[in-house]
Amino acid sequence: MIRLRPSRRDDLPFITTLERHPDNRDLIGQWTDGEHLSAIAGENGREHWIVERDGERAGYLIAYDCRPSGAGIYVKRILVGDKERGTGSAALREFLANLFARPGVAFVWLIVRNENARAQAVYRKLGFTRFDPPPADERLYEGIDDAPADRCFRMKKLV
Ligand SMILES: CC(C)(COP(=O)(O)OP(=O)(O)OC[C@H]1O[C@@H](n2cnc3c(N)ncnc32)[C@H](O)[C@@H]1OP(=O)(O)O)[C@@H](O)C(=O)NCCC(=O)NCCS
Repeated sequence: MIRLRPSRRDDLPFITTLERHPDNRDLIGQWTDGEHLSAIAGENGREHWIVERDGERAGYLIAYDCRPSGAGIYVKRILVGDKERGTGSAALREFLANLFARPGVAFVWLIVRNENARAQAVYRKLGFTRFDPPPADERLYEGIDDAPADRCFRMKKLV
C-alpha cells in the first residue's frame, strides 16, 4: 500500500542519500540539506512528502503551490528508491487526488528531462501532456535548478 505523509527533519538522511545516489543524481536536481529542511518546514509554500510503501519509506515528493503567480501546482521532484514496481505512479496518483480536492487548484505541471523516458511514461499514464507556454508566460514556469531548457520540457495536467 502506498501513502504520502509529511516529511520530517529526521527523514533528511533518507532523502539526501536517495537523491545523491548514482542511480538518481543525473535524473533530478540536487538540493542542499538546508533546501530540503526549508521545504520540510513548509517555507515559501513548499510541500515535502515521504512516499511510504507498506509503512516503509520508499521515496519522496516535493511540490510548490504556485497559484499566486498563476502557474498552478508545480511538482518539483518525485523520486523512489525501488523502481518499476508501481510505487512512483501510485504516489503521484495519490498526490493528485489530494491536490484536486483542494479549492482553487486548476492544474498541475512539472519539468522532465528529455532522456527520462520512464518518468515521462508515468506522467503520460496519469494524464500529463507536454506543453510549451508562450514566451510571455515562460517565466511563470521556470524551475530554478532544473536541467538547461534544451534538455527538458514541461508537462501539465488539468483538473
Ligand atoms: C520516475 C519514478 C518516480 C517513477 O516511479 P517508478 O515506481 O519507478 O514507476 P512505476 O513503476 O510506477 O512506472 C514506471 C512506468 O514506466 C515504464 N517505463 C520504464 N522504463 C521505460 C522506458 N525506458 N520507456 C518507456 N516507459 C518506461 C514502465 O513500463 C511503467 O509503466 P507501466 O506501469 O505502464 O508498465 C522513478 O523511476 C524514479 O524515482 N526515477 C528516478 C528519479 C526521476 O527520474 N524522477 C522524475 C524526475 S522528472
